[in-house]
Amino acid sequence: MNIAVLLAAGNGERFGGYKQFERIGGRMVYTYPLSVLQETGIFQRIVLVLPSEKHFELIEESVEKIVGGSTRQESSRIATEYLQKTGVVEEDLVLIHDAVRPFLTREGIFRVLDAAEKNGAATVGRYSTDTVYFAGETITLLNREKVFLAETPQVFRFGLLKKGHEAAVRDGYRTTDDISLVLRMGVKPQLVVSDWFNMKITTRRDLELFKLLLKNGIRSKLQ
Ligand code: CTP
Ligand code: MG
Repeated sequence: MNIAVLLAAGNGERFGGYKQFERIGGRMVYTYPLSVLQETGIFQRIVLVLPSEKHFELIEESVEKIVGGSTRQESSRIATEYLQKTGVVEEDLVLIHDAVRPFLTREGIFRVLDAAEKNGAATVGRYSTDTVYFAGETITLLNREKVFLAETPQVFRFGLLKKGHEAAVRDGYRTTDDISLVLRMGVKPQLVVSDWFNMKITTRRDLELFKLLLKNGIRSKLQ
C-alpha cells in the first residue's frame, strides 16, 4: 500500500500567517500538491495534517484530516502514530510532502517512490549551485558538489519511519526533515535530484514568485 502525508500544520512565522491557506489562482496553496498526489491514482490513503480542528471545515477534498503538533517533526510523528493506529504495516510506503511546495510533479513522485521501494528511504533534493561555507567559529569552504539540499517529497518504508521517530523521542533528537530520522538508524537513503522547479513558499517574496510562475503557465510545462 502507498500512503501520502501532506504536512500543512505550520503557522508560517517567517511568512506572517498560514501560507498554506493563501488563495492563489482561485484556490488555496495546499490544493496544488494535493491534487497532484490525487491525480497519480497510486495512493490508497492521503492524510492532510492541519494546525487545528477549526481548519477541517476549510478542506473540501475527500482526504483524512488530523491535527499536527508545534514543530514539523512533531506533526510528522503524530501522522506516523495515526498511521500505526489505523492499520498501516511495516512494508507500506509512506510519502511525506510539504504542503507549501506547490510544484510537485507526478514524475517526481514516481521516481522517489521507486527509489524508496529499493532502498527503504529516499528523498528529493538538489545539489547546491552556490558556493557553500560552514559558518562556525571559523569559516570552512565545503565542496558544493557534495552538498545536497533536501526537499520533499521523502518516502519511507513505514517500519523505518516509525523506528526513526521512536528513537528521536527516546534520544531527544530534533531535526527539520524526516530523512535525518532514518539516517541515524543506519539506513542509506537514496538521493533523487529534483529536475523540476520544486520551490518552497517560506516568505511573502516566495508567494509573489509562485504567483508569477503560475501566471506564466509553469504548471503545464512541468507536468
Ligand atoms: N509544518 C507542519 N507542522 C508544523 C510546522 C510545519 O506540518 N508544526 C509543515 C508546514 O505547514 C509546511 C512544511 O511543514 O508545509 C514546511 O515547513 P515551513 O516551511 O517551515 O512552514 P512553517 O513552519 O509554517 O513556517 P515557519 O517555519 O516560518 O514558521
Ligand atoms: Mg517551520
